[in-house]
Amino acid sequence: MIDQKSNDKKLLVTAALPYANGHIHIGHLVEYIQTDIWVRFQKLTGRRCIFICADDTHGTAIMIRARQEGRSELDLIAQMQAAHEKDFAGFGIQFDHYGSTNSAENYQLCSEIWEKLRSEGLIREADVEQLFDPQAGTFLADRFVKGTCPICKSPDEYGDNCNKCSATYSPSDLIDPVSTLSGATPIKKTAKHLFVQLEQLRGFLTEWTQSGEHLQPEIANYLKGHFLGKPLRDWDVSRPEPYFGFAIPDSPGNYWYVWFDAPIGYIASTWQWCKEHQEDLADWWKSDQTQIHHFIGKDITYFHTLFWPGVLRSAGYALPTFVHIHGFLTVDKEKMAKSKGTMIRASKYLELLDPSYLRYYYASKLGSRPEDIDLNLQEFIAKVDSDLVGKVVNLASRTARFVETTGLSLEYPHDGGLYAAGVVAGEKIAEAYEQGEYSRAMRLIMELADAANGFVENTAPWTLKKDPGQHVRLQEVCTIVLNLFRQLCVYLTPVLPQLSAQCGKFMQRDIVAWSDSQQPLVGTQISKFEHLMQRVDPKKVQQMIDESKEASKTESPVATPAATISQAASAAGAVGVEPLVAEPLAPTCTIEDFAKIDLRVARVIKAEEVPEAKKLVKLTVSLGGDETRTVFAGIKAAYSLEQLQGRLVVIVANLQPRQMKFGLSEGMVTAAGAGGTEVFLLGVDSGAKPGHRVH
Ligand code: MSP
Ligand code: ZN
Repeated sequence: MIDQKSNDKKLLVTAALPYANGHIHIGHLVEYIQTDIWVRFQKLTGRRCIFICADDTHGTAIMIRARQEGRSELDLIAQMQAAHEKDFAGFGIQFDHYGSTNSAENYQLCSEIWEKLRSEGLIREADVEQLFDPQAGTFLADRFVKGTCPICKSPDEYGDNCNKCSATYSPSDLIDPVSTLSGATPIKKTAKHLFVQLEQLRGFLTEWTQSGEHLQPEIANYLKGHFLGKPLRDWDVSRPEPYFGFAIPDSPGNYWYVWFDAPIGYIASTWQWCKEHQEDLADWWKSDQTQIHHFIGKDITYFHTLFWPGVLRSAGYALPTFVHIHGFLTVDKEKMAKSKGTMIRASKYLELLDPSYLRYYYASKLGSRPEDIDLNLQEFIAKVDSDLVGKVVNLASRTARFVETTGLSLEYPHDGGLYAAGVVAGEKIAEAYEQGEYSRAMRLIMELADAANGFVENTAPWTLKKDPGQHVRLQEVCTIVLNLFRQLCVYLTPVLPQLSAQCGKFMQRDIVAWSDSQQPLVGTQISKFEHLMQRVDPKKVQQMIDESKEASKTESPVATPAATISQAASAAGAVGVEPLVAEPLAPTCTIEDFAKIDLRVARVIKAEEVPEAKKLVKLTVSLGGDETRTVFAGIKAAYSLEQLQGRLVVIVANLQPRQMKFGLSEGMVTAAGAGGTEVFLLGVDSGAKPGHRVH
């Protein structure tokens, strides 16, 4: 990734700016831990490096959430930023500066960059017709509109795609559209929007993305296949008022879209750092003596690999040296889901478990490819216990007490070449860190730990201890083992800064540089050994899941940012409005009306995948006796097949059968929630039998 010649250049590293409308969860942490490890590694090897981040604070979602919570946006974003910073600190993520996109610096930079884009002739204006909520007085982003799917006529579908038939369309195509903000019928309204004409930058963007220097090959290919093969679409960078963001100085009533000012926030936050440290911003963002590295998730690839380089280049800033793109976190191979308790907040994790566990686990899973990574909770427990506690910490806990009074030998004893082998391996480990191949680095480190443990077994210090004639040898053996332990701690410092600091304290010499792994300590005192790390308590892991599940039932849902182009985001379906606002009460009905609907208790006797459908599962339910029904339910994102098998549900038993692409649906399973992963099946208390009618 980085050639040796450029090693004297300084590094500016960023992680994506988290949205201010949600809390940090363990999915986000993949990225912040990944980036923090890289930065810590660079600093440990003596590179000049700063780690810059900020909260991403603008947009409709924030505005609406603040409105619903009856407070100002400023109040909301201040509170979220404090929560984010606390979570990051709890996980040992050490930014050099953490700013906000809602800053004076950002506004100034946006204005300057905007002027530049104007003068380059990249901006065009055009009228855009959009749905508008006359009651709430705001334009409606796609996810704030619901209505009947124009294709399959399924009711209650979102403005951009249909949960039932997966069709995509524009919200103005919906039949009987309703605003989820107020329940009002949206009207069509035209407003002026401003666009960046990216197509004008095609030559540059093709060259930059395809040069093989700045992007992982998978990403370069993706861009080639999905974007660069056809004319690049103009990028709509403005929103009409009301909007929470920066007003565009030369376009009254219009604001920059959140994704315009968000990446500029990287520069603004650096600028704030510069002011605090008497540095010149140009040395960091307009200099070929600085390398800029962005770490981001795959969902925001477009913004960082097309839009952002285009803006930087047009405005005369330095381009990113490399955009490191990672995949998404799954938990036990499934998307994180609140209903399953796997959407675990950083703060919840910190209440119950040691952050070092997760840092190590992620490191052991992360490579340099943009692949998804899976958190398997059994493996998480096993790996931490066997590697960190069993192999690393154990070295110290089995030997420390024998040299508490004597300290280490005055000369480093003969160890059969173990320490020297560790020095040699250090080069490979460093290379792996540098390349973002942390899983390889962890493997190499654990191989060294295995060798050290073999030495402990063979020399059996606890036996030497019993024989006073062997006490010199005992001191030698412990000197060797503790130095091997310390060498491992140096190599683990980027991942486990806390363990590294504890090792420094215990061996009375702080670990400050990678080169601390190259020279054994001799003749120094050893502090009293304090336990360095506990085994993982599986009960705490379970408690974390249970409490996350519980919390999801009470907390108000958070608006999903419209900003991403990912399918995942548009399918998420969580809308930041109270249920009654999202779906106002229906008009009064009579008991006779209600009686027409035959609701029955039914047992799921078979739950099957529908391979062609993203959101559906096929259920065979029993109404008792031989009476069964086949129903298709859009609950795939929220329930696993195993969870469905055998459970009782409530179905609409007399719904007119409907022919679907995948087969005949003979009823409907009842459920509450906004859709996507936010689906909660209705159940019945024990005692109810399949076939019982619901009155
Ligand atoms: N605000 C934008 C980024 C603006 S950068 C100028 C944003 N925010 S986010 O809070 O939604 O996500 C922050 C980062 O966390 C993104 O890089 C995103 O890919 C990453 N992740 C969010 N959920 C994730 C997982 N489940 N797994 C791995 N990374 C995830 O996007
Ligand atoms: Zn449809």
